[in-house]
Amino acid sequence: MAISFFKPKTNANEAAVEDRSMIDLRNVNKFYKTAAGDFHALFDVDLRIQAGEFVSIIGKSGSGKTTLLNMITGIDRPTNGEVWVNGTGVHTLNENRMARWRGKNLGVVFQFFQLLPMISVIENIMLPMDFCRMYAMAERRKRAMELLELVELADHAHKPPTALSGGQQQRVAIARALANDPPVIIADEPTGNLDSKTAESVFALFNNLVDKGKTIIIVTHDSAMAKRAHRTALIADGEIVNEYVAKAMPTLNHTQLLQATKSAKTMTYEAGAMILNEGANADSFYVVSKGTVEVVLPRPNQSDVVALQLGPGKVFGEIEFFHEKKHRASIRASEAGPVEVLVIGYDKLSELLEKSETTREALRQMADRHQGENLSWRGVSS
Ligand SMILES: Nc1ncnc2c1ncn2[C@@H]1O[C@H](COP(=O)(O)OP(=O)(O)O)[C@@H](O)[C@H]1O
Ligand SMILES: [Mg+2]
Repeated sequence: MAISFFKPKTNANEAAVEDRSMIDLRNVNKFYKTAAGDFHALFDVDLRIQAGEFVSIIGKSGSGKTTLLNMITGIDRPTNGEVWVNGTGVHTLNENRMARWRGKNLGVVFQFFQLLPMISVIENIMLPMDFCRMYAMAERRKRAMELLELVELADHAHKPPTALSGGQQQRVAIARALANDPPVIIADEPTGNLDSKTAESVFALFNNLVDKGKTIIIVTHDSAMAKRAHRTALIADGEIVNEYVAKAMPTLNHTQLLQATKSAKTMTYEAGAMILNEGANADSFYVVSKGTVEVVLPRPNQSDVVALQLGPGKVFGEIEFFHEKKHRASIRASEAGPVEVLVIGYDKLSELLEKSETTREALRQMADRHQGENLSWRGVSS
């Protein structure tokens, strides 16, 4: 296939990569003005998506999924907070620049396709190229045809969209979304109106595009479909469940995850900084959310040893929650870069575990296992 696709650049420098998140929402809040007063639809949303990631957003109807996507596409604006997409502050663009910017940077796919019924399938795909004056006039039709080949609908190029089935129309909509070769595809319930087999083929197409380097965000309330993405962000009542909290305690239900997210405080540490000292009183449970921490053990008459490295989603402070309330090891940020941890006080953790016996048991087993390892590293037989 001759068709060219945007390839995200890679950068060996961690910090630089961090700054180059394809999508970066920082402390986004959205209030809708209603007759009954302000409605808080998004609450302190932080979401970072790297180039080439395939992320699904799931949540109940009315939880804020479309509102969240509208912040990213610039269809609507946050009341406060920042939205960065491909290096552009979307929240800073005025209406004139917004449409042109969106046309080049984002391909948007809707649940009900939203193809123009009066023009042919191929003309629908050419429209964004015409609007953004992308590609030479003579090339646009050829490119549109190549995109139709990609979605396996070249035979239907000259039909009106209404002559096509729902699944076919959605594939046309995806081809249209790709017209200007945007780095990012945003799809709001793209399979919500399709039967499961057709939905499957639309997902296969998304997977194919991710392989070609696109960054894709889809909203779906089909959790089986959602699992086919690289990762899933849960949204409930306008709040995003912290994905590392979800990774650390996968047996919590949606509401409990939100509660855990809300009770976590974020702390950041410079590379190499001490986070906890061995022997100090323990009062919190920690989930690593960025970077790597080292578990450092003092050994009698020997130098300290780094017993373990813990990356995002890994936890510490669980041994002390179940056993003695003094830290069993020192924890420090690795030299590789800054570290972010989520801190949940033991009182909050207790409340949470009272609601989920399965999670308590899972954490207890982890604590027991780690306690045993801790003792053997120290040369103490347990
Ligand atoms: N323009 C609006 N004005 C007032 N309330 C709105 C508006 N748009 C959405 N809402 C409310 O915000 C909440 C989130 O809506 P939405 O983002 O559409 O949810 P979802 O896409 O998850 O179903 C809902 O309670 C909805 O009623
Ligand atoms: Mg919606």
